Amino acid sequence: MLSRRLLHDLSDQGEITDRWAAALHTVPRHRFVPDVIYLHERGRPGNDLVPLRRADDPGRWLELVYSNEAINTQVNDGHPAPDGTGFEVTSSSSQPSVVAGMLAELDPQPGQRVLEIGTGTGWNAALLAHTVGADNVTTVEIDPTVAAHARAALDATGYGAVTTIVGDGALGWPDGAPYDRAISTVGVTTVPYPWVDQTTPGGRIVVPLTNSYHSPGVVVLTRHDDGTASGRLAGPASFMTLRAAREPRVNGADFTAPAIAKSTTDLHPHRVAGNRDAATAIGLRVTGIWWSWQTTGDLGKLWLYAPDTRSWASLELRTHPPYPVEQAGPRQLWDDVTGAYRWWLESGEPTVTDWLVTVGPDGQRIELQL
Ligand SMILES: C[S@@+](CC[C@H](N)C(=O)[O-])C[C@H]1O[C@@H](n2cnc3c(N)ncnc32)[C@H](O)[C@@H]1O
Repeated sequence: MLSRRLLHDLSDQGEITDRWAAALHTVPRHRFVPDVIYLHERGRPGNDLVPLRRADDPGRWLELVYSNEAINTQVNDGHPAPDGTGFEVTSSSSQPSVVAGMLAELDPQPGQRVLEIGTGTGWNAALLAHTVGADNVTTVEIDPTVAAHARAALDATGYGAVTTIVGDGALGWPDGAPYDRAISTVGVTTVPYPWVDQTTPGGRIVVPLTNSYHSPGVVVLTRHDDGTASGRLAGPASFMTLRAAREPRVNGADFTAPAIAKSTTDLHPHRVAGNRDAATAIGLRVTGIWWSWQTTGDLGKLWLYAPDTRSWASLELRTHPPYPVEQAGPRQLWDDVTGAYRWWLESGEPTVTDWLVTVGPDGQRIELQL
């Protein structure tokens, strides 16, 4: 079980409702997290995800499982390097406050049928089972090894009636439809239509939306009679994406084009990368741009890069403006980002909840609706 003190703290901070605190307390997370978990080791070059084996340090393992942190449970699709390390998290148990927040948005009621995409450890499926009844929960996982671990954990904890499916969750699970609720614990840029189609009219669908520039957060959709679903963004969340939709790993060696444009700006990098409302708008208006922050003491550099054309740009934060800007490659990334930022300012600085997401058989639209 999660520590009472942690749940109490989260409840006090308004991060988790009493209903879900009680569920998290009842369904023991440590029975679902595998014995080997992976920790980021800062500054380690290459494979920076290092295994922590429960047998080697049971106290540390338990402390992490009892913390309000995501726990990395698989790296490199289950194929770590010979020394056990990895470079990419491919399965995890999400942060308890995020899990509780998404379940609160989903608001499943006893007896309702629920579809979950991304079984992972099985913990979220068990929380759903605890709430709606195990035989009302269907969960889909793409990785057979991950799914087998979850299956065993569900059986061992009394939630054996949950239906676990090994397959591509983007297709939902039509054999179990219709569902009253659907929840994805994998991020998507575009909500797959089968999730809408397999949800009953009036039903609710909760999905973390991802975006290379800035993941907008969790969208809460309501399924309508006409076959579409629409809804607004709720809390922030950052999730791994569906396996097939993963972006190739960005490799620094691909971004060697010399700077072809040098300029300066008075715009502080925080304005375009550190403000959730602005970054959400920029991410929805530019395509395929990523950013990272390189710290140097109190200052640093904002790097922008676009793998499609190997374009890059940088903004060097100095003690005061103007800040030097460099751009390289066919795309002028700083110009793209500041153009989108200006649009956001001129549009009255809309917040994340001003965006309406609509999903139908023809695809997904995200539009400003104040
Ligand atoms: C953040 S983890 C899920 C956490 C999980 N709900 C839990 O309680 O532990 C995301 C999971 O989605 C799985 N996944 C990735 N792509 C998928 C896909 N196309 N279909 C189904 N599952 C997928 C990953 O293998 C991973 O186990």
